Amino acid sequence: MIISSVLNKYKSELVPLCQQVAGFIRAELYKVEAADIETKDMNSLVSYVDKEAEKMIVKRLSDLLPESGFITEEGTVASTLKKDMWIIDPLDGTTNFLRKLPHFSISIALRHEDDVVIGIVYDVMLEDAYTAIRGEGAWKGDNKLKVSDTATMNEAIVITGFPYERDQQIAASFEVLKHCIQHCRGIRRLGSAALDLAYLSAGIIDIYYENSLNIWDLAAGALLVEEAGGTVTDYSGGDTYLNNGTIISSNGILHAPMAQVIHRFHNSDAK
Ligand code: IPD
Ligand code: CA
Ligand code: CA
Repeated sequence: MIISSVLNKYKSELVPLCQQVAGFIRAELYKVEAADIETKDMNSLVSYVDKEAEKMIVKRLSDLLPESGFITEEGTVASTLKKDMWIIDPLDGTTNFLRKLPHFSISIALRHEDDVVIGIVYDVMLEDAYTAIRGEGAWKGDNKLKVSDTATMNEAIVITGFPYERDQQIAASFEVLKHCIQHCRGIRRLGSAALDLAYLSAGIIDIYYENSLNIWDLAAGALLVEEAGGTVTDYSGGDTYLNNGTIISSNGILHAPMAQVIHRFHNSDAK
């Protein structure tokens, strides 16, 4: 158990760190060229900007908590299991960034033993910091966050995303999407899972679901949603979303109806 004052100290260090790294990312937006872009896996792109941003974050957090370990998307540091693990996506929404579509974020979470205890999702272009501390709440800047009170599916704004790899779940995904198009007020695909969760925590949207994600896409954002009073599960209704990469998140009120639709079309072993 880490005491509250220590968690608050870490939180107050994460905000300026994200501001600094976001400044770097913004400065590179119109400098990055086609030759700088590598393809990691099918449709999954990366550039020096993701890697340099990650190195800046790792350096600062190693100084802040010397005994901690790291789980990072770009693997610029070895991942050795420690009691305290920083879970980092230095640039969530790389495809948007590389096409100058101004919607991408930095996501950093701290896992202490088995629990994520701090999360920050930083909107790079709008310079908004969404933060959460386990058991204490979630904030955008100094304002406490609360999920929406939307009570029916036909009033719901839903966000989703689609895997980079066009996998065999495409048929199920289409059925779920079709249901949402027919039964919800609106559906969006914005391209940054971490910001999708931050928007849910702020009551901007009501439901976010997606599959084939990684722990660094979800760790900080899922804590934001939980601390803002929402519900987060995997596609089977369990709590293994950080490890199995499927997530249903909602304002709580709409969780059961959304989960029902996903259960109807996706296998229980969906990833
Ligand atoms: C991606 C974004 C996107 C989601 C993808 C993620 P990246 O992260 O979060 O919204 O649909 O599955 O991989 O690659 O931009 O860090
Ligand atoms: Ca990501
Ligand atoms: Ca990324």
